[in-house]
Amino acid sequence: MTSLRLGNLEIATPVVLAPMAGVTNAAFRRLCAEQGAGLYVCEMITSRGLVEGDQHTKDMLVFDELETVRSVQLYGTDPVYVGKATEILCAEYGVAHVDLNFGCPVPKVTRKGGGGVLPWKRNLLGEILRHAVKAAEPFGVPVTMKTRKGIDEERLTFLDAGRIAAESGVAAIALHGRTVSQAYSGVADWDAIAELKTAVPEIPVLGNGDIWEAADALRMMDQTGVDGVVIGRGCLGRPWLFRDLASAFAGETVETLPNLGEVAAMMRRHAELLCEHMGEERGCKEIRKHVAWYLKGFGAGGDTRRDLGLVKTLADLDELLDRLDPNEPFPASELGAPRGRQGAPRHKVVMPEGWLDDTDGIGCAIPEDTVSGG
Ligand SMILES: Cc1cc2nc3c(=O)[nH]c(=O)nc-3n(C[C@H](O)[C@H](O)[C@H](O)COP(=O)(O)O)c2cc1C
Repeated sequence: MTSLRLGNLEIATPVVLAPMAGVTNAAFRRLCAEQGAGLYVCEMITSRGLVEGDQHTKDMLVFDELETVRSVQLYGTDPVYVGKATEILCAEYGVAHVDLNFGCPVPKVTRKGGGGVLPWKRNLLGEILRHAVKAAEPFGVPVTMKTRKGIDEERLTFLDAGRIAAESGVAAIALHGRTVSQAYSGVADWDAIAELKTAVPEIPVLGNGDIWEAADALRMMDQTGVDGVVIGRGCLGRPWLFRDLASAFAGETVETLPNLGEVAAMMRRHAELLCEHMGEERGCKEIRKHVAWYLKGFGAGGDTRRDLGLVKTLADLDELLDRLDPNEPFPASELGAPRGRQGAPRHKVVMPEGWLDDTDGIGCAIPEDTVSGG
């Protein structure tokens, strides 16, 4: 059995649920954790929002009672805010792991020099990492970072980021094998992940991108030598992927192929957890966006899908799920198939004016928005 060590934290299975804005809330993390061991990261929180006590940010920092390892991803461009936010997470929220986001490709974020374009400013990156590590140190909390290959193929940053991470006391670095300009399109470059693993032997390297099945995770570990894997879109509508991953890392080859009745039960459990955490109205609204992912490839009728996409109460949900044929087998076409957003590459990555002129960045952090998520 392989485990993953992040500073003081030992994860029984080297599997991490990727932070996904609007998805990895307390209910979804609990649902996935019920399936298998691993580390389940909260959706992205804005440092400034947390420091300034923004209510929406605070509302996102909700944990399930069974969530013993609280793991949060922070976004920030200002070392002081990131340091303060890290301290708040450790001191007030009992967080056991802080991940820093240096991969977000969304224009709203890159326009401010944040997310995936920040590592271009090598010194600013180091400064942010050191502030976070220093703030977390008294609490024994490991800080990790997640990044992309670079802004585009001509402006790669991941190898420098790995070196800076290791020098700054970061406990691990996760690499999504795409550039910012690729967004979610194309195929993740596992060779870059292998290159980073070789270049940064001092700290664990985690690989991310295009793990759709447990077998892909084993293949990534084998091909790249990484210490663990980060699971993104592959678990959308398929939380049992974590069960398969736990089995695969325990040396068994279990491939869960739930029939439609079992998928409906999973959807019901997901909705129930959402309603427990958010109340019935908001919980039912949230489950709507997962309907297409759960039913992908199944023959469920258009009317039922449409009604599920408008569901308002758990009683309605039960009635609609009862309409599905519980014996319909899992669609083989979905095995290994990409899911979730893919979109097109971005021709132009939006950045602050003159961002590429130098790679320093100290003192040039542009205040991020206070509002988290997105
Ligand atoms: C809906 C959605 C929201 C995401 N939000 C975040 C985020 O807040 N922070 C982050 O680091 N990555 C975010 N990502 C990227 C994923 O964490 C992951 O790096 C990416 O999807 C590649 O992995 P995959 O090919 O396994 O999906 C998001 C991805 C999706 C699909």
